[in-house]
Amino acid sequence: MAANMATKPAPFPVTAIPLPPASSAPGLWEKISSWASENKVVVYTLATVTVVATGAGIYYISTADGKRPAPSETAASSTTGKKKRKNQKKKKDAAAKEAGGEKGGKKAEVEEENDGLPEVTEESVAALGEQERKDLASKLKVAGNSAYQSKNYARAISLYTQALLCKQDPVFYSNRAACYNATSEWDKVIADTTAAISLDPMYVKALNRRGHAYERSGQHSDALLDYTASCIIDHFSNETAANAVERLLQVIARERAAEMMKDKKRRLPSPTFVSNYLQSFRAKPPPQGLEDGVELDAASGLYQLQKGIAEMGRRTAESYAEAGEAFDRAVEIGGLGEHEAFAYNMRGTFRYLKGENTDALNDLTKAVELKPELTQSFIKRASMYLEEEGDQAKAIADFEKAISTDAADPDIYYHRAQLHFILGEFTDAAKDYQKSIDLDRDFIFSHIQLGVTQYKMGSVASSFATFRRCIKNFERAPEVYNYYGELLLDQQKYEEAIAKFDTAVELEKATKPMCMNVLPLINKALALFQWQSKDAVAEAQKLCESALIIDPECDIAVATMAQLLLQQSKVTEALKYFERAAELSRTENEVINALSYAEATRTQLTIQQRYPNLAPNFASSGFGGA
Ligand SMILES: *[C@@H]1O[C@H](CO)[C@@H](O)[C@H](O)[C@H]1NC(C)=O
Ligand SMILES: *[C@@H]1O[C@H](CO)[C@@H](O)[C@H](O)[C@H]1NC(C)=O
Repeated sequence: MAANMATKPAPFPVTAIPLPPASSAPGLWEKISSWASENKVVVYTLATVTVVATGAGIYYISTADGKRPAPSETAASSTTGKKKRKNQKKKKDAAAKEAGGEKGGKKAEVEEENDGLPEVTEESVAALGEQERKDLASKLKVAGNSAYQSKNYARAISLYTQALLCKQDPVFYSNRAACYNATSEWDKVIADTTAAISLDPMYVKALNRRGHAYERSGQHSDALLDYTASCIIDHFSNETAANAVERLLQVIARERAAEMMKDKKRRLPSPTFVSNYLQSFRAKPPPQGLEDGVELDAASGLYQLQKGIAEMGRRTAESYAEAGEAFDRAVEIGGLGEHEAFAYNMRGTFRYLKGENTDALNDLTKAVELKPELTQSFIKRASMYLEEEGDQAKAIADFEKAISTDAADPDIYYHRAQLHFILGEFTDAAKDYQKSIDLDRDFIFSHIQLGVTQYKMGSVASSFATFRRCIKNFERAPEVYNYYGELLLDQQKYEEAIAKFDTAVELEKATKPMCMNVLPLINKALALFQWQSKDAVAEAQKLCESALIIDPECDIAVATMAQLLLQQSKVTEALKYFERAAELSRTENEVINALSYAEATRTQLTIQQRYPNLAPNFASSGFGGA
């Protein structure tokens, strides 16, 4: 087992508060997410670079000018062009009349009636020449538009339908779809816009309209595809459509997450997560009578309790799973005497880690009732109230009960500080961290968190001074270097940050060879990636790979990997990693987060297949902050 195990008592996590951002993985997820949302557009554009390189987009480039004007221009050009065409038509008709043919006479008649817009039927159209049909069609369209404007939708629909008899034009379909949109006939909107899009795949207005209809009829994935295509064609210039993409990603991710959570096997998260969670409490020796080496009846609940503590100290995926089961059995067997509250406390802790929040909360309540002096139970329950019920008042009340029970317990202040920290109350957080330090200087995370809090308050100098003092006092603690590195990274001091992460990695290896924490590896990967030196992405990927060898279930490593793959246009692989990150995520919100990236990536892949000629839009739009 790890070398440090021999020198320290088996770590007995007294107060497991779920980790607010800064104390275990200070918002790594958030960091990745905010990177991705700041670069939202990039998510859609990265993958196509290779496509462009193969020249697949030429078609659209070369035809973009003539292919189809924006719908608004269509109307304009059809008005300006009308006179010309009318003149041409007159000439033709005159010629026909001159020829004295029957047809000519009939045409003149039709034209005359058209001013009053007669019923156009298949037969009457069949009798017309191509130009006549076109002319008639555009008159019908103009009339349809004005009927639409005056909200006479039935009339507008009839006019567009007649126009379509004269000519298959995507604009007519799309306009008729607008009428159906106004009357909420989504199936018909979908049918007409689909016809419009099949005539003109780049028809943005029709795509938006169909997206809207799909969304209204609950076909969210189809809606997402249409809005995304429209955004890409339009270079993300339409904010409404871009918002629709964002909204639908969330809707779909939520739907899928709800499904996943239903069937999710409740199990412990990765050992990196569990260790980070457990080590945010001061290590204490096991309760009296449960120490290693004390002989206990193997059939007793106390034996299971002792076993659970020992397994927890080994910090591997298997041992954490064993510990959880041992605590379950301990409570089931019972006969725990004075340790009953502790057993409920530990079972609740592991249930909480597995995401069984309601059961966990009940266990902690039981622990509190049995033995209020075990202040950690209040602290853990406070965090559960906060996470499970969003109930700050209950959380604060529990901290106060803990303080009234044992005002000298440094853990209470540390965890109350965490609560303040999450709520952005940094002054109060700093006060509580300091109080925790004053009561016990040896707990490294109080110092680290104080430094992070000072940084958040804008006191970069005092924050860095705190970290330098930490390095002096906890020279061999990898965590100090890891978190100091994060702040340096935030300051864009890449080389210094990377040096700190390197030290953290070395110390992790040296002090915990069997159960090293992979966060410094991932942080280094992110630093390299943000630094953007040429080979950085490949090297960052290697770091993530080694993190995943050490801890295959580390969701943060998996999510980082997904982003790095996306950065390298490996979209299909990236999608797999996003899906995996969703599987590994513990809470529903994390699952939703991972799935929304998965869906964005999947949509991108589909659009690439569906619109190979859109590649130049991915590549050349230079969206920047669009
Ligand atoms: C932008 O998109 C919305 C919704 O998709 C659509 O209703 C609107 O007409 C679009 N605006 C422009 C200027 O294209
Ligand atoms: C569809 O109709 C709604 C009103 O129900 C309107 O707000 C919206 O702009 C229309 N959308 C499109 C794409 O025509």
